[in-house]
Amino acid sequence: MKKIIAVDGPAGAGKSTVSKIVAARLGYTYIDTGAMYRAVALKVLESGKPVEEVTGDIEIKLDEAGKVFLDGREVTKEIRTPEVSRGASDVAKFGFVRKKLTELQREMATQGSVIMDGRDIGTQVLPNADLKIFLTATVEERARRRFEELKAKNFAADFEQIKKEISLRDKQDSEREIAPLKMAEDAVLLDTTNLTIEQVVAEILRLAQT
Ligand code: DC
Repeated sequence: MKKIIAVDGPAGAGKSTVSKIVAARLGYTYIDTGAMYRAVALKVLESGKPVEEVTGDIEIKLDEAGKVFLDGREVTKEIRTPEVSRGASDVAKFGFVRKKLTELQREMATQGSVIMDGRDIGTQVLPNADLKIFLTATVEERARRRFEELKAKNFAADFEQIKKEISLRDKQDSEREIAPLKMAEDAVLLDTTNLTIEQVVAEILRLAQT
């Protein structure tokens, strides 16, 4: 059984949805690294302070139930707004932010039996992962999924606007200088455009067991 699984890919490809299910089926810990960049962005937005200042003494914790804590306060819901999504992609450009979160993420994975998702897990955070998956889907399909997700949570949602924002985040995440979104050479590419969640989960479980 593969003990450390890295899942990377663009926004809305289904990383967190399938990673959570795979973690539950294998009894693994799921680590959502995007939530950590979102927590940094939330702190910047709430405090109005520059990211350099905010990152120095920040405390970010993820619990087993998927709750996110920023400096001891639960922010699980607050980090899911479109404003924080944009902010997370912005703060993710800074080397000092990435260094701090990468160290934390490596520490969280030392026990093994983890599935970690993000943008640079297979390439930077856990280059020795036992299994690397690169999940992708067309921008239309990813926007459609985000649209449905936001609607279900009662956030105001506009499909064209979401598509524009996803395209912008794709560009920003793929073109940044430090640790850009990129498929690791030894990753397995899974295009989820025409696959159900269960089909993607089954394929990852199959790969984890071989
Ligand atoms: O996966 P997500 O949408 O929650 O991620 C939010 C942003 O955080 C994403 O646009 C880029 C950044 N991110 C990153 O740079 N590296 C990671 N490992 C995870 C997220």
